[in-house]
Amino acid sequence: MATRLRDNRKTEEIRNSVRETELQVSNFIYPLFIEEANNIKKEIVSMPGIFRYSLDRIHEELDEVVALGIKSVILFGIPINKDAEGSESWNDDGIIQKAIRYIKTNYPTLLVIADVCFCEYTDHGHCGVLCDHDVDNDLTLVNLRKQVLAQARAGVNMVAPSGMMDFAVREIRDELDKNGFQDIIIMGYSVKYCSSYYGPFRDAADSAPSFGDRRTYQMDPANRNEALKEAQADIDEGAEILMVKPALSYLDIIRDLKNNFDLPIAAYNVSGEYSMIKAAGNNGWIDDQKVMMETLLSIKRAGADIIITYHAKEAAKILNK
Ligand code: PBG
Ligand code: ZN
Repeated sequence: MATRLRDNRKTEEIRNSVRETELQVSNFIYPLFIEEANNIKKEIVSMPGIFRYSLDRIHEELDEVVALGIKSVILFGIPINKDAEGSESWNDDGIIQKAIRYIKTNYPTLLVIADVCFCEYTDHGHCGVLCDHDVDNDLTLVNLRKQVLAQARAGVNMVAPSGMMDFAVREIRDELDKNGFQDIIIMGYSVKYCSSYYGPFRDAADSAPSFGDRRTYQMDPANRNEALKEAQADIDEGAEILMVKPALSYLDIIRDLKNNFDLPIAAYNVSGEYSMIKAAGNNGWIDDQKVMMETLLSIKRAGADIIITYHAKEAAKILNK
């Protein structure tokens, strides 16, 4: 006799007891945009509900984050001063170093993650040092060491290099270890595609490239085997967590990593993915709260243990009910 599969869907109780995937607030990492300025709480036009804060007002956001049970935040800085190399990113008094110190002092239980890149700090908006109109990999590695060391001295718990430079994880692991920061976690943006879904983020962080695009360092969206090579490289170089970014158009890649590697897998539910749900919801075309939960669930079902998402607060409110 064939199984009657509908039997296990009959009541809420049976559905709950056989559910294969469940979201938890502890899966979420919430991104924060911190601007070097005073008295700023400015909504990002293309990301309704997401704000840029200055440090003197970030407590408004953090109090809510902590009250909702969210345990981790990832920080993006918007500095006043930009230059060709992004040297503000390794200033001990730079905006992200100040933010790390502030959060670890006032919210000691929060896990503080720093994005490690240069596009928010360079006057040209590319993710490293330029040479002949392209990012020079090995010159950028030298500066990556300086940036993570400044973040480590400020007290960061985890660093997440997002620039797709070859050997970034190796260099960062070495710099951290030789300075006594062996227990800082490295979450590699191992598989980061060159995606148009980052558009709203670049408005939020003032980090759009002033010329060209990022195709010489971020991955071609057509490539799947290459994702395994990128992930393996990060493992060999000492990463503790692997990330896939974006999430939704790359659920197959999340699953590939889950099936092939045994490190925790993170997925970045990026700005454009957030904006699309918000825009359709605000037009009354979809129920954005339900679509949000279905979307987050699909990312977890695909294999992500950790989800970096702008929806974290809203989703936590629903999960905490
Ligand atoms: C910086 C960085 C970007 C994102 C995270 N870190 C932008 C980019 O690569 O252009 C995108 C995040 C998002 O879209 O939400 N390298
Ligand atoms: Zn960058």
